[in-house]
Amino acid sequence: MVLSRRRFFEELAAVGGLSLAMAGMDALGFGFSSAQAAPPTLTGKGKGTRVVILGAGLAGMTAAYELTKAGYDCHVIEARSFAGGRCQTSRKGFTDTDLMGHKQTCDFDEGLYINHGPWRIPYHHRSTLHYTKLFGVALESFVNDNDASYIYFEKGKGALAGKPVRKRQIAADARGYAAELLAKCVGKGDLDGALTPEDRDRFIAYLISEGRLSPKTQTYVGTDRRGYDIPHGAGVDPGPGKVSPPFTLTDVLESDTWKALASLSEFEQQATMFQPAGGMDHIAKGFERNVGHLIRYSTEVQKLVQDDKGVEVFFKGVDGAVGSVKADYCVCTIPLSVLKNIDLGVSPKFKAAMAGVSYAPVNKIGLQMKRRFWEEDHFIYGGHVYTDMPGIGSISLPSTGWQGQKGVILGYYAFGAEAARVSAKPPADRAAFAVAAGQKVFPQYAESFETAFSFSWHLAKYNLGGWAEWSEEGRATAYPVLCEPDGRVYLAGEHLSYIGGWQAGAIESAWQQIGKIHARVNAA
Ligand code: ALA
Repeated sequence: MVLSRRRFFEELAAVGGLSLAMAGMDALGFGFSSAQAAPPTLTGKGKGTRVVILGAGLAGMTAAYELTKAGYDCHVIEARSFAGGRCQTSRKGFTDTDLMGHKQTCDFDEGLYINHGPWRIPYHHRSTLHYTKLFGVALESFVNDNDASYIYFEKGKGALAGKPVRKRQIAADARGYAAELLAKCVGKGDLDGALTPEDRDRFIAYLISEGRLSPKTQTYVGTDRRGYDIPHGAGVDPGPGKVSPPFTLTDVLESDTWKALASLSEFEQQATMFQPAGGMDHIAKGFERNVGHLIRYSTEVQKLVQDDKGVEVFFKGVDGAVGSVKADYCVCTIPLSVLKNIDLGVSPKFKAAMAGVSYAPVNKIGLQMKRRFWEEDHFIYGGHVYTDMPGIGSISLPSTGWQGQKGVILGYYAFGAEAARVSAKPPADRAAFAVAAGQKVFPQYAESFETAFSFSWHLAKYNLGGWAEWSEEGRATAYPVLCEPDGRVYLAGEHLSYIGGWQAGAIESAWQQIGKIHARVNAA
């Protein structure tokens, strides 16, 4: 049986929590690093060629920006009253009504926000970084990993189940015991067939360093990597500097806490990770400053027709006004989940391919806390709390506003059926659910909570999901069809990339498609 991607990630998440789900995303080509560093050079003729672009997300605005620069005449149609697509930030005044009719207005204090869509930019996503630099979007570090943060697993067994434990302690103990066991095997000659005598000695040296083993006994007895129960002091007397004793190997194994260790070592999650200072939507605003005058906002696409001379797109404004725009080509960036329901003049083969992808339920919640207790009381500055609590996924601490008074915590970030279950609740119940879960990790959670804003991508009318999830079969059959134009219609977006669920996928997909349009115009 071929598992759908969604099922696959859900199963991974169920078995191994966020770490395995993330690793699975990477393994299935969900998050390859960015391949292109710069937009295509559109030299030659383009001047006056009309292009209608559907959607003012990052793919659409990338196409509009680059094509306009090359002399094309671009018109962008956007359903929302603002540009950016999924590149959104919820801050004071931001409103959302989801498909279940839940209306929310964000009530965070001035200056506080949560990125309920994209929230981090890997250093190797050169295409995204191309535009942050070009548009002067200030970046700051996004703390994607934090040894001081907690792992809270409650489904496992033993002494650590249902207890927040520092990641650095689990990491140190897991490395220590694994190194000790391997050293034992080497000592008994079990690995002689795999190691030359010289490599045997080098390997032992490596294991002592890797696990911080006692060089004499080659056993793991704990290490200051775990942190101190009583730290060193000042002056001539160093003080006790007492290192906390290790957990037992059984504690580490049966609690399942080790499952959280691998998640952020994947290439796409490695340091340095960035976020725009003040909110991810500064990227959207950077584009909008340049192409905003080309965008017709609050306008839904109703129908597209095409022949061998051009395309015509019929639209309806939210005010009821109808109209159409004619163009030589169309770049359509509407998510396939939404596009499937629009009257699109494309071939049956193209339509069948569009049906070959599903979209992930994804949700997030921002919880404004009146005090930064995670910093003040727990000494955790940014990063994620890893949990196996259903519907929570991970809790994340802000990478900005250090040592300020208040802060917004990401109270859950969940995918799949678990996300769908939580977002079916009214917003107040979602917040109560998130606060009750966080309370198990931080005793100060409930008393510090002030206000919440939640967002569910599968309940967003113009998205119907967080990102496209291609099955292996869909990737092999439907995907290549959609990467090619159907007549004069070119699709673009994260869904047409191997960097799915990342802004780089949207941008690079647009680069690829406008390159094809330009080659066609110049060949004519
Ligand atoms: N790109 C998504 C994230 O950063 C999956 O969480």
